[in-house]
Amino acid sequence: MCGIVGYVGSRPADPFLIQGLNKLEYRGYDSAGICQLNHEFYVCKTKGRVSDLERALKHTPLKGCIGIAHTRWATHGIPSDENAHPHFDCHQNIAVVHNGIIENYRQLRSMLINEGHIFQSDTDTEVISHLVETYYQGDLLEAVCRAIQELKGSYALAILAKDQPNQLIAVKQDNPLIVGLGQGENYLASDIPAIIDHTAEMLILNDGEVVRLSKEKVELFDRSGEQITKKPVSIQWDPVQVQKGGFEDFMLKEIHEQPQAIQDTIAGRINERGELDLDREIPPHLFEGVSKVQFVACGTAYHAALYGKHLFETLMDIPVEAELASEYRYKRNLADDKTLLIAVSQSGETADTLGAMRLAKAKGARTLAITNVLGSTISREVDAVLYSHAGPEIAVASTKAYTTQLACLCLLIAHFCRLKTGENLAALLLALRGLPDKMSQTIKENAAALKAYGEKIRSASDTFFIGRGIDYASAMEGQLKLKEISYIHGEALAGGELKHGTLALIVEDVPVVALLTQPELADKMVNNLKEVKARGGYVLLLTTDQESDFSDVGDQVLRLPEIHPLLAPLLTVVPTQLLAYYTAKARGCDVDKPRNLAKSITVE
Ligand code: AGP
Repeated sequence: MCGIVGYVGSRPADPFLIQGLNKLEYRGYDSAGICQLNHEFYVCKTKGRVSDLERALKHTPLKGCIGIAHTRWATHGIPSDENAHPHFDCHQNIAVVHNGIIENYRQLRSMLINEGHIFQSDTDTEVISHLVETYYQGDLLEAVCRAIQELKGSYALAILAKDQPNQLIAVKQDNPLIVGLGQGENYLASDIPAIIDHTAEMLILNDGEVVRLSKEKVELFDRSGEQITKKPVSIQWDPVQVQKGGFEDFMLKEIHEQPQAIQDTIAGRINERGELDLDREIPPHLFEGVSKVQFVACGTAYHAALYGKHLFETLMDIPVEAELASEYRYKRNLADDKTLLIAVSQSGETADTLGAMRLAKAKGARTLAITNVLGSTISREVDAVLYSHAGPEIAVASTKAYTTQLACLCLLIAHFCRLKTGENLAALLLALRGLPDKMSQTIKENAAALKAYGEKIRSASDTFFIGRGIDYASAMEGQLKLKEISYIHGEALAGGELKHGTLALIVEDVPVVALLTQPELADKMVNNLKEVKARGGYVLLLTTDQESDFSDVGDQVLRLPEIHPLLAPLLTVVPTQLLAYYTAKARGCDVDKPRNLAKSITVE
């Protein structure tokens, strides 16, 4: 997965392209490249980050009012200058940037080599430039349409031909691509934040669509080259939301945005009496006859799915599974027309989640998505969507997307419960309305202690997160956050499991983060913590219990505001996010762009 961007207009292309790459860098940062056209191709590409490209550009200024650019997350071929995009044909007439994977590139590459083409890189992408070269006879659109007939896999593409100074061709297949409509200039990018500073009018491309951008117009075609039409959408995101807004990092900003994000998630959906209105978003017939619920998701979204499973099992009499989307397609699957498949995905583009959802759909399941991205592939393919309204999440580590997913799951269970049983979960919904203030309080009261704790554990090599019941899912999310941005190993355990093996690793001063929010499990959790303390573990206890004395089991006890027990995960995750953030900062890590990772994983 990578980020691509394109521009055609009357101004130099590089300011937009570089700004776009900086916004898209969360999608990959192994190498970056740019190509502008002004009679000749002006190209600069380099291993490393967009900032490295910007440095290189100081020595290689570019010319041209039309251009394409790319930031790469390496799949085929190591991160290197040679493998950086754009890729060219044999005569440097065709330039291509690509996000996705060409699955049949080996066959295509050997066929093209047999025909005499010379390759410069190890990437799968380069076959595309040579294929376009093969078909190009002055009509770039036609050549691209013919070339893509031969591609298997996923691709969002932007393509230039040296002798077409006012024409950029783009294609979308299984990877996102957005066209921004300007005045006398048009834009292309992998996502909305890369364009939103310039225009709110956008075309969100569907799979199989091909677009020809010139400075005067944008024309849309199907993959055989037949012209089609589609209405632009007006995107309401505030451009300021995609800036750091005075925070040192996007992640810290996004942690602090959570109270507002939750408010946006519930706005217009729950009224002051705790009544819910979701009928327009999720038509009641979607639940008719449903006898089984399956969640599919990856990473943080999978932890949200575990929370969803807990809610459904606690409040409804219905079997629920929460599956890792990456495993879902490769095991026996009992989805049928009585199954409700719920895909949870911030981006709505994760390949594993999309693949799992498509399989369930093919087996007759009804499908629903909880996603943050309007017009994302998953949102377009499911029967109903519940948008989380978290606003743009830029940091690779998911924070506000997660808590708004949990809020959506509360809305969903309340909707389902009302339709199935007539019961209105007003207490839960009213408590959700009160959550933003408690989140703000949690941040305010605990940030300093978490910063100090993060500095204390900065040299730890292992950490353990424990909880029971729903706190176990929160422990999993807490350890993932710490692990992905600080590179300290973390393991999450259900409290009762410690004694079955992992207790062997609890020695003097090993950091243990414990979550204790469920009154009925409190005594058992305290026993587990005693086992930890007896081995010298250093315990940070996060609890919503206001009264009990935990001084014998917690070296540091952070009391979070009292809350409805089913909402506790929306609160306890906040200190674990802050802990991850401050620990990573204490270690000098790049919190927004952790090594080897990227924001949305559009490959399997
Ligand atoms: C978590 O911080 C990660 N960014 C990652 O686990 C993420 O949640 C996962 O890749 C799923 O992404 P999605 O929600 O966009 O599908």
